[in-house]
Amino acid sequence: MTYREEVIGDCRLILGDCREVLPELSVDHVLSDPPYEDELHKAMGRIKRIDGQKMVDDLGFDGINLTRDVIAAACVKAASGWVILFTLAEGVRAWRDDLQAAGAKWDTTCFWIKPDASPRFNGQGPARGAECFVTCWAGAGHRKWNAGGKRGIYTHCVNTGRQGEHPTEKPVPLMMDLVADFTQPGQTICDPFMGSGTTGVAALQLGRRFVGIEQNERWFDLSCRRVEAAHRQPRLFAEPTPTKPIQQSLLGDAA
Ligand SMILES: C[S@@+](CC[C@H](N)C(=O)[O-])C[C@H]1O[C@@H](n2cnc3c(N)ncnc32)[C@H](O)[C@@H]1O
Repeated sequence: MTYREEVIGDCRLILGDCREVLPELSVDHVLSDPPYEDELHKAMGRIKRIDGQKMVDDLGFDGINLTRDVIAAACVKAASGWVILFTLAEGVRAWRDDLQAAGAKWDTTCFWIKPDASPRFNGQGPARGAECFVTCWAGAGHRKWNAGGKRGIYTHCVNTGRQGEHPTEKPVPLMMDLVADFTQPGQTICDPFMGSGTTGVAALQLGRRFVGIEQNERWFDLSCRRVEAAHRQPRLFAEPTPTKPIQQSLLGDAA
C-alpha cells in the first residue's frame, strides 16, 4: 500500500487509515485523541441551542465503538511505552478492556478539566466540564514518567486564542504537559488520529520525534502547515548537558 507521506524535520506525517498504517510502525509512545463514542456523534445532530445559534451537527468522522478493539490492539503493538488515549468518561471501561485484551498493562484514568467549556446549549442539564484520557504501558519493563507524585489532573482552557479550523482541536499547552510528563526528549510519539496536528506541534516544541496519521486530506494538509510552522520555531527544550546525578547519601557523611 502506498500512502502520501510528508517528512518535516524529525516528523513523519502520513495520509491514510491508521488501522492500515499503525501495524507497520514501531514507536516509543502513542498519544492520541481518537473519535469519541458513537452516542456523542449521534447526539450532535439532535442538539438544539437555546440561543438559536447553529450547532456543529457532523464532525465528519465516525464514532469509535465499532473499531475500538482493532485500534487498541494496533496502538499496543506499535508502542513500546505509553499508550495514552482521550475519551469521554463513558468510554473508559471499554478502552480499559480492549487495551488489556491487547496485552497492555493498565495504569490509570486522568482528567482534562476545562474551565471555559461550552455551556449545555439546550439547557436541559449540566454541561461537560472535563474529558478523560486513559493510560497504559505497552512495553516490557517499568513504566517511566517524569512528574513524581503529581495528580493526573490537567487544567487548561479550551480557547487558547487560536481560531482553529478543526472541530475538535486540543489546546497545545495541554498536549505539551502530557508530552513533558510521559515522554523523554528524543523519543518518538505517534498520534494515529492526528486531526490538525496538535500533538505533533507539542512534540516538536519539546524536542521529541513525531509520527502522525490522518485519513482526511483537509486535516492532513492543515497538520502539515502547523507542524512545518512549529518546525521553524525555536525549540522550548534544550538537550541537557549530562551531569553527575546529585544524590544525597541516606547514610549521612559517615566517611
Ligand atoms: C478527535 S479528532 C483529533 C483532533 C486532534 N487532537 C487535534 O487537536 O486536531 C480525530 C481525527 O481522527 C481522524 N480519523 C478518524 N478515523 C481515522 C482513521 N481510521 N485513521 C486515521 N485518522 C482517522 C479524523 O478525521 C479526525 O481528524
